[in-house]
Amino acid sequence: MNDQAHPLADIVSEAERDFHAAPTPAELENAKARFLGKSGRLTELLKALAALPIDEKKARGAEVNQAKLRIESALNARRDALADAELNRQLQAEALDVTLPGRQRGEGSLHPVSRTIDRIEAIFASMGFDIAEGPEIETDWMSFTALNNPENHPARSMQDTFYVDIKDEQGRWLNLRPHTSPMQVRYAKAHAARYAQAVAEGLTMPEVRVIAPGRVYRVDSDATHSPMFHQIEGLWLGENVSFKDLKVVFASLVREFFETDDFDVRFRPSFFPFTEPSAEIDIRFGSGPLAGKWLEVAGSGQVHPNVVRNFGLDPEAQIGFAFGIGADRFAMLRYGIDDLRLMFDGDLRFLSQFA
Ligand code: PHE
Repeated sequence: MNDQAHPLADIVSEAERDFHAAPTPAELENAKARFLGKSGRLTELLKALAALPIDEKKARGAEVNQAKLRIESALNARRDALADAELNRQLQAEALDVTLPGRQRGEGSLHPVSRTIDRIEAIFASMGFDIAEGPEIETDWMSFTALNNPENHPARSMQDTFYVDIKDEQGRWLNLRPHTSPMQVRYAKAHAARYAQAVAEGLTMPEVRVIAPGRVYRVDSDATHSPMFHQIEGLWLGENVSFKDLKVVFASLVREFFETDDFDVRFRPSFFPFTEPSAEIDIRFGSGPLAGKWLEVAGSGQVHPNVVRNFGLDPEAQIGFAFGIGADRFAMLRYGIDDLRLMFDGDLRFLSQFA
């Protein structure tokens, strides 16, 4: 060892230089070992103190210790610097570039069926109709019995109606409503109850004028049938309501919805248990891509006396007209869509065309 030849100050500045030059913590620890390790240069000097006479030992010891403190402080400074550099490197790596343009989230738009229902609601509202909504899970009485469906009517069968694995108070399975017609019953019953007192006092009950849009469910699926689709039920009930009123209301709807006068409306005799007489409503445009074709858009009829009785009203006094509009059908005709399934696939390439 020729460190005696090196003044302590040189060892310190060598250590400082080596530490400063160490690019990584691992290399710094290697450099540390060369000075402060078991046989490091400073450690050797400390060991050598033992051989000195007592008075020299004191003075030399103080110097060596001083040098050791300086080397340790250089070491710690470099450790801190390397740790800071590492932290900065990580922060840099994770840095957000706030000047990058944001990812576009795309503006949503209303589904064509929702737009259709909104427009039909506005048209009926302008003709003094209330708008009501009701449950999609119905009792057997509401979906069938109150609507004059015989016990063995095919609509009740499992092939047509979805049943829910829960029974109602009468011990009958609940169903996913296969049409919006239960809303005739719910709304008219509530209306009758609301005015019962006034009627008992000799006043005339205000007419029922309501539409009830919503989802309905049937076991059916092809290009023109979906297991879930939308109807808009309508009910107009009063002492002086006639089929003529239904015709006027329906023609107004078609005129305003399709924004044309160039069409015909046809009432084609049909059958529903809850109306008598009953009619399918067909429309035919005089121009446009569908010109000349009769298109079925709704079922309708005069509310059956048994049903008026189930409303809690007197069929001798109240005559009603009901209709059930195929809302999806209206949307398809309006937008020129030929496959109902497109409506419910949720494919944005299709839906964004209505934005
Ligand atoms: N509920 C019938 C259907 O779903 C439509 C309808 C409603 C018919 C009201 C007459 C009166 O087919």
